Formats: sequence, C-alpha cells, structure tokens
Amino acid sequence: MWFPLERKTRRGTVFAAFWPSSATALCAKTFDVAPLMRSAFQFESTYDDDLPDAPSDQELAEAAELRNIDEDHPAPSRSPSPRPKRVRLDDVPIRLKHRKLKRRDARQQATVTLGQAPRAATLRDHILASSSAPIPCQLDATDLPAAHGAYTAKNEGKKEKQGSQKRRSLAELLHMGFRLIPWNGRDSRPIIDAQGRIIAVLAGRPDDPTYLAAADAVYSAMKMEASALHLPRTLFSKRRGAFPALNVGTYYGKGTRSATQLDNGVYDPLLARLLANPHLNRMAVYASCECASLTHASRLLTHLPYAAVFALWAPRVYNHYHERDTELRGRFPHLPRIFPKSVFACAALNFGPDVCTYRHRDSQNAPFGWCSVAALGKFDPTQGGHLVLWDLNLVVEFPPGATILIPSATIAHSNVPVNTNAGEERASFTQYTPGGLLRFVDNNFRTEAAFESEDPEGYARMCEGKAQRWQMGVGLMSTVAELFESE
Ligand SMILES: [Fe+2]
Repeated sequence: MWFPLERKTRRGTVFAAFWPSSATALCAKTFDVAPLMRSAFQFESTYDDDLPDAPSDQELAEAAELRNIDEDHPAPSRSPSPRPKRVRLDDVPIRLKHRKLKRRDARQQATVTLGQAPRAATLRDHILASSSAPIPCQLDATDLPAAHGAYTAKNEGKKEKQGSQKRRSLAELLHMGFRLIPWNGRDSRPIIDAQGRIIAVLAGRPDDPTYLAAADAVYSAMKMEASALHLPRTLFSKRRGAFPALNVGTYYGKGTRSATQLDNGVYDPLLARLLANPHLNRMAVYASCECASLTHASRLLTHLPYAAVFALWAPRVYNHYHERDTELRGRFPHLPRIFPKSVFACAALNFGPDVCTYRHRDSQNAPFGWCSVAALGKFDPTQGGHLVLWDLNLVVEFPPGATILIPSATIAHSNVPVNTNAGEERASFTQYTPGGLLRFVDNNFRTEAAFESEDPEGYARMCEGKAQRWQMGVGLMSTVAELFESE
C-alpha cells in the first residue's frame, strides 16, 4: 500500500500531505483507507454491471425508436462532453453520472455513424428463437396457378368454386385437418414454400400503441361512413362474401383501353374522406413502401412504425411494382396514387360489421405479387376472424390492427366469421395491384391489339417472352436467408 511521504523542494519547502512521523499515527488512528477502497471497488463493479460493452436488444430498440422519431428533423449537434472531473472517493455518484453520460454519448454516436444494424448472431437468435420463426409449407411456388404470361392467375374453375360460398367455423376447419397458427398480430412471420421462398408474410404491426389506436380510428371512421349512407346489398360481392365493399384506385382490366380511375359514383365523396384519413394512410404505408433507411434486421427487431412490409419481405417484387407504378404516374399525372406513399394501385374497403370472405382467389392480380390485408374491428382473434389459406392448409389467427401479405391471385383464402351475436365486429382494408395494369405499362401503355398493329416485331417478342415470365416472377421472390445475408 502506498502512502504519500514527506517531500521537500530544493529550497526546503515541504509539499507532501503527511509527515513520516505522523503518517503511521494517522493511518492507525484517524485515517482508515479500507472503507474508501471498498467504496471504490463497489463503484467499479456497479459501473461494469450497469453499462455492458455491447448494447442489448432493448437498447437497440430504444435507440432505433428515438432515431425514427427524429428522422424528419436534423440530427441534434452533440453537446461537448463535460471536462472530466478529478475523481474523489467521496464523490462516487457524480463520477457515475458522468461516465454513464459518456458511454451513452458513445453509443449514440455509433448509432449515427453505423446505423441500426444489429449483429447477425442477434438477428438469427431473434428470428429462430422467437415467435418470428418462419412457417414452412409443402407447396412449391412454381406450382401456383399463374396464367400464361403471368400477369394474372388462372380463373377459378367450376371445381374450385364448388362449395366455396360457405362461412366455415374454426372448429369445422380444424376438423377438416387445417393447421392452426396462433399469432399475436405483431411479430412478423414469413411463410416459406418447399424451396425456402417467402410466398406470404404475417407482417404484423408496429410495436406502438398509437398504431393500434390508428387502426381503431380507421374502423370507427368506416363504421360511421357506412352507417350514414346505409350501404346497400348491391355493394356486396357475390364471389367474395356478404358484406358491402368499395374498390378505389387506378385500374386496367377487362373492358378498359387505358388506365383509369375506378368510379364509385355517389360513394366517391365517402371514399375521398376515408382516403384522406391520416390513420388509414398510416396503415397503407405500413403495408407497402419504403419510408425509413433502416436495415431489414433493424425493422424486424424494433417493429418500427414506418417499416414498410412489402418492400421489407419481397424487395424485388416491390421494385417490380414500384418501377411500373413510377412509369405509370409519369405518363398519367392525372392518375395520382391513392395513398402517396403506397405502391399499390388499388384498395378495397370492406365495411363491417361482419366481414367474412368466402373461399376465393383474386385472379386478376399479379400471380407472383402480393396484396395486403389489414384486419379491423373488435373481436377475439382466437375465436374468429382467422385468415384461412386453403392451398397451404393453414388457419391463421388475425387480430385487429394486424397486416398480412399474400399472393391473393394464386392462393385461395377466406375468413372465419366473428361472433356478431356477442357484439363482435370485423372489417378489413386491402391493397392490391391489378396484373393488367402491369401489362399495360410493359406494353408501353397500350392494349395488346394496339401493340400488335403498331409494332408487330415487338409484339412477337413480347408474346415469346410470356413463356418465361412466370419463372421470372417466381425468381423475384426472396428467401429468408438472402434477406439477412444482404444486411
Ligand atoms: Fe381476396
């Protein structure tokens, strides 16, 4: 143990704290170093426990949330760190505070410099060990019923339609051998085919109570608009289910010669009000496009409110849509997107209180593309409202506020009814892009007949390319492994 001893300058001035003669006496009687040393060791161990070298997932999530909140604002300049004070053993709390601040500053600086990407091991642990584990299926995406040219799916045949217009309970479906997928409606879970391709995703929702409040607000707005207008049975879709639905957006399909805005007549003002609803816009953006320059891993770990799940889980399919949508809007500026930050061309508002779809496919959508479905209302998701994926043999719990993305053209789907007798209510909000619209853009904004007459050689090449287009579409799908390798 070292003690300061007497020291003198050349002039003889004494500058040490203790005289040798009194040091021993002081140590023995009035100066006991042990409590101070214990205090010092205690402080050091407290410090080490309190601030681990590697930030935890929770810390990453909190930092990511902070960053996301601030992303529209300039990054605040770092205030200069206070000059370190000389450490005194009787001043432990002050030193602890200072060192904590210093470490926090370092963490925040690293976040700004390196982004939010967690380590690969953390990500793997999260995905494999948590409720975000992929759901494997036996189906091979190449076997899905795409039409020649892969702009749409094959129409549903008589056999497929037979007996489809039924509301089937959960018990009935389980009895039929369906596999139940419990789901909290928040954590993302990809559904992968036999080759590991992500063919659908239970996208979930941001881990943010304000998002659930937004979903509630959307349902309330839809309910209010529907009750004010007494939506008639003529708005019911015979094919999809006995509930009123309105479709809105940019369309190209049977009977049209150009891209056009869907006309809903007297319901256009109602739709305009709903499309302007900021909560509906928030849900639309969550389902679709890129709004945050964060990594795939970060979004999964933090459930960021603006992590757009289509771009996240199927980036190549999303880009395919995005490129064509950008071309379309450039060519037809009078046809703006219905949701400025969503890549989908159309949306369907399925009004409650009893939205329960029959088994069906939306065969006019792109067969390799996805449509987003968001559940709304008030119901117990363990008892009703499930999404049934017939070709995958799955019944998925689908809580209000959650979003699921599926290839609605090629995988037959339906819902389990909710218990309206117990006061439960369900509605839904879907987004999709008609495959015909993608074809219209690919054909340089003309019908196939016009293409053939104006450019016979180009038309011949396009027809030839149709044979390989489904293969191209399947190739756009991602695998879980490649999404995380690209981090
Ligand atoms: Fe559908």
